[in-house]
Amino acid sequence: MTALPDRYAVIGHPVEHSRSPDIHGAFARQTGQNLVYERLPAAPDAFAPTVADFFAAGGAGLNVTLPFKGEAAAYADRLTDRARRAGAVNTLARDHDDRLLGDNTDGIGLARDLERQLQMPLTGSRILILGAGGAVRGVIPVLFEHGAAAIHVANRTAAKAEAIAADFSDLGTIRASTLTGASGGWDIVINAISAGLAGETPDVSPTVLEDARGAYDMIYADKPTPFLRWVASHGIERRCDGFGMLVEQAAESFALWRGVRPQTAEVIKALRPGGDRQPS
Ligand code: ATR
Repeated sequence: MTALPDRYAVIGHPVEHSRSPDIHGAFARQTGQNLVYERLPAAPDAFAPTVADFFAAGGAGLNVTLPFKGEAAAYADRLTDRARRAGAVNTLARDHDDRLLGDNTDGIGLARDLERQLQMPLTGSRILILGAGGAVRGVIPVLFEHGAAAIHVANRTAAKAEAIAADFSDLGTIRASTLTGASGGWDIVINAISAGLAGETPDVSPTVLEDARGAYDMIYADKPTPFLRWVASHGIERRCDGFGMLVEQAAESFALWRGVRPQTAEVIKALRPGGDRQPS
């Protein structure tokens, strides 16, 4: 008799356009793991009951996306250090004693993609991050873990950037400013401003790119994002959107759940929106 597949899902609102089922489906085929991975929509006020029902019905693990990452951190029985530092969980796994472990794999996803796609080692790097939302809190601990020498967070609302700098100052050198207050001297410039989705370019001076060897947009699209077009127009050749980060964070979740690490390069290539090409 064939065993029933283990059930996984991504919970969010909205979740209809999530690429996670395609990515985990590809990982499962590649590694021969017997699992199904679906979308789990939840109304904005129904995160906890939807998660409880999913696990009560035998579900094995969840990815968590907007707007529930903070709620998932509060819901988990235990948190990994990086999830606690982020205050956000994107992965829920049944622990050995059946309690729920919350992890945050977004930062490791970014770090792996920066080091592989952009070929930019993080050790000793000076990093400018544009934006100070939840996503930034998820990635800062891992950037320091991978050896970042200094991080500057620049945000439209300076107070939010300052709060992040204060919260993570025990991990390394971290400073904050407004977007217009940021100057040059950064090896890598990372965009985490969600307005990139709306097609706006950030209100930031091109001088921030003066010494940059690479630029990364945490957003991805089927064509070059406004941020990537902006950095390209200022001569930054190494640049990359966030699709690889999505696949890499998924690989880390998959490894946590299944104890098997999938190969990501071929999945990034096969599933990249807009086809198999580097954004330019
Ligand atoms: P996420 O979880 O994706 O980081 P978020 O927490 O809503 O999302 O954060 C969105 C980020 O985009 C914030 O840094 C926000 O700046 P504020 O803190 O000043 O709100 C930034 N952002 C959104 N729209 C923006 C715009 N039009 N111009 C500049 N920054 C913008």
